[in-house]
Amino acid sequence: MDKLVIKGGNRLVGSIKVGGAKNSALPLLAATILAGGESSLTNVPDLKDIETFAELLRHIGCKVNYEAQKKSISVDASEIDSFDAPYELVKTMRAAILVLGPLVARFNKARVSLPGGCAIGERPVDLHIKGLELMGADVTIEHGYITVVADKLRGTRIYLDTPTVTGTENLMLAAVFAEGESTIENAALEPEVLELAEALSSMGAEISGAGTDIIKIQGVKELKPLAHNVMADRIEAGTLMVAAAMTKGDVLIEDCPFEHLDALTAKLGEAGATITEEEDGVRIKGDWPIRSVDIKTNPYPGFPTDMQAQMTAIMSIAGGLSVITETIFENRFMHVGELKRMGADIVVDGRNAIVRGVKGLSGAPLMATDLRASASLVLAGLVADGTTEISRIYHLDRGYERLEEKLAALGADIKRTKQ
Ligand code: EPZ
Repeated sequence: MDKLVIKGGNRLVGSIKVGGAKNSALPLLAATILAGGESSLTNVPDLKDIETFAELLRHIGCKVNYEAQKKSISVDASEIDSFDAPYELVKTMRAAILVLGPLVARFNKARVSLPGGCAIGERPVDLHIKGLELMGADVTIEHGYITVVADKLRGTRIYLDTPTVTGTENLMLAAVFAEGESTIENAALEPEVLELAEALSSMGAEISGAGTDIIKIQGVKELKPLAHNVMADRIEAGTLMVAAAMTKGDVLIEDCPFEHLDALTAKLGEAGATITEEEDGVRIKGDWPIRSVDIKTNPYPGFPTDMQAQMTAIMSIAGGLSVITETIFENRFMHVGELKRMGADIVVDGRNAIVRGVKGLSGAPLMATDLRASASLVLAGLVADGTTEISRIYHLDRGYERLEEKLAALGADIKRTKQ
């Protein structure tokens, strides 16, 4: 098992390119199930979760050629002959639930392991199931599996109690072949949902309203294979922005999806960083003292929960008090205990973390607990006095493509070593 070793104190300077978006590539891979023939994706990030999804597609009978180095993947879904997503695969990656919609849409049946809870919360999928039932599917949950059968899905009105991201994506994928029109109300507005709708439309689907809270899908008979370039990862870009701001850095982020980062750039600006759009990317200059700002996570276009842990890290060295409120997941402060081991002054009270900025953090041995928590520990290590060692970085590798190499290219003293 690997760990990261970081010597803090270096300013980050230079330019770096953002990779393709994990949370876009996964639903796009699910969309390939809908069409016979060969689909292809480019700008695919080289991540553990992509490998796992490729394995799942092979498991149901797809021919998959994943060239991680070339950031491309092709999927031939002509000969799908199995309709189940086993526990072994789903337990490592909740997004595997995204095969449910397309399998039922194209083959009227699916059996998918129920994703259990995860470090950040219970994360039920009841809204995915409710939507399928409203479309006329018969759903049973037994022995840890969701089994869905349907004669033919029927278009209908689906109101989502909460704008779930993968729930919206799964039901959009399910509705493309349904009889008649489906309407998803209180739909998620995340850019990844919009990209999936655009990709499905390029395959021949009839979708309108994506990017708004009402999405309409008119069922069609057939789709053609997908050929799509995955958009840049706004959360990776955001993480690099916070790294630059925390280290008094001067970094140009190339391929930065600036238009998807309004909430974050507004908060980093309030905290004292200077962010400017340039021809080749977005430049971020950090400045000290960092000002304390309050953060409240919300569905897009609100402040992304996937940037909350990183903002907690920067606020831990800011010059005052900030309140960070997590409204999406009930247990997303696992990084706080580790930051406190570095000398941070944070009190968690229910969904709020009250962060009193300290003069400096000190390096320490730490343990990653989930994807974004591990990113926040890396950021804290960049500014800490002395050496920080972070173990269980398999969490980090699920969503960041060799983050240590990108940070080292900007001047950080960071290495991956064997445990
Ligand atoms: C997506 O997860 C992302 N994952 C998450 O990113 C991200 O944190 C989350 O959206 C919120 O932005 C992918 O896109 C693969 P939700 P998802 O359904 O779709 C409740 C990362 O770090 N809910 O929008 O699983 C749920 O419990 C990951 O990259 C129900 O109650 O999140 C939560 O409180 C972590 N019933 C809220 O909705 C349901 O059926 C939002 O969850 C579904 C969700």
